[in-house]
Amino acid sequence: MELKVLTQEEINEVVSNEIIELINNSSKCVLGLATGSTPLGVYKKLVEAYQTNEVSFENVESFNLDEYVGLDSTNNQSYRYFMDHNLFNHINIDINKTYIPSDKETSENYYKRYDDKIENHGGIDIQILGIGSNGHIAFNEPGTSFDSLTHIVSLKESTIKDNSRFFNSIDEVPTRAISMGLKSIMNAKRIILIAFGKNKQEAIRCLFEEEANENLPASILKSHPNVTIYCDKEASSLLKINA
Ligand code: F6R
Repeated sequence: MELKVLTQEEINEVVSNEIIELINNSSKCVLGLATGSTPLGVYKKLVEAYQTNEVSFENVESFNLDEYVGLDSTNNQSYRYFMDHNLFNHINIDINKTYIPSDKETSENYYKRYDDKIENHGGIDIQILGIGSNGHIAFNEPGTSFDSLTHIVSLKESTIKDNSRFFNSIDEVPTRAISMGLKSIMNAKRIILIAFGKNKQEAIRCLFEEEANENLPASILKSHPNVTIYCDKEASSLLKINA
C-alpha cells in the first residue's frame, strides 16, 4: 500500500485527475464508486472537468459499493439519490449503466448477480473507497470475512452513529445495508482509499501498524498489488511518519 499525505484539495485534484486520465485513455472504463462525505470533492472536480470539456463519461460505467435496505431512490438519504444528485445528474454518463445494489432485493441470487455483473462488465478499473472510523470499507463491518462477496449487512452501532449526522435523528438510520464484499472490492484492478479528518486517525493508524486481520476490514487492502491511501494531515496524525 502506498501512502500519500496531502491537503484535501490536493487529494481531490490528484484523484480526479487520475480518473479523468483513465477515462480519456480507454475506449471503455468501469468505475467503482463510494458515497459518504469523503468522495464529494472528487465528484465535484469530475463535474467541473465535464463542464469544461476535459472529459466525457459516455463510455463510462459505474458500480457503487452499497445501498441501505429500504431506502429507495426518492429518499434523499438513499445512495442512489446521493449519486444522482452529486454526480450522475451533472455529467453525460448513461444512467442505465450506473449500477447500485438494489435497496429491495435480498436473495442470495441477487447478491451473486451483482458480483457476476461486475465481472461480466470487465471488472472495476478504479475503485474509490472511504473508510469508517471502525475501519470498515463499503459496509463491511469488523468481523466480515475476507472471502465475502456482495451480501446483506447489519450495521454496527458505531456506523449507525457516524452516519446519523446525515439524518434527522439516529432512529431514522437504517440498520441494514447491501454491500459489496471484501473479496468483491479486492477484484478491482486499482484501489484508491481516501481518509479525511481526525475521526479516521485511529483506523488509519491500525491500517498501517497492524497485520491484516478481519477485525479491521480495510486491512485486506495490504495484499492488493495496486492501492494508494490518500490521507490529509489529521487522518494521518497518529502515524509514526508524523512523529
Ligand atoms: C459509502 C461507504 C462507506 C464510507 C465510510 C466513510 O459508500 O462505502 O464505507 O466510505 O463510511 O464515510 P464518510 O466518507 O462519510 O466518512
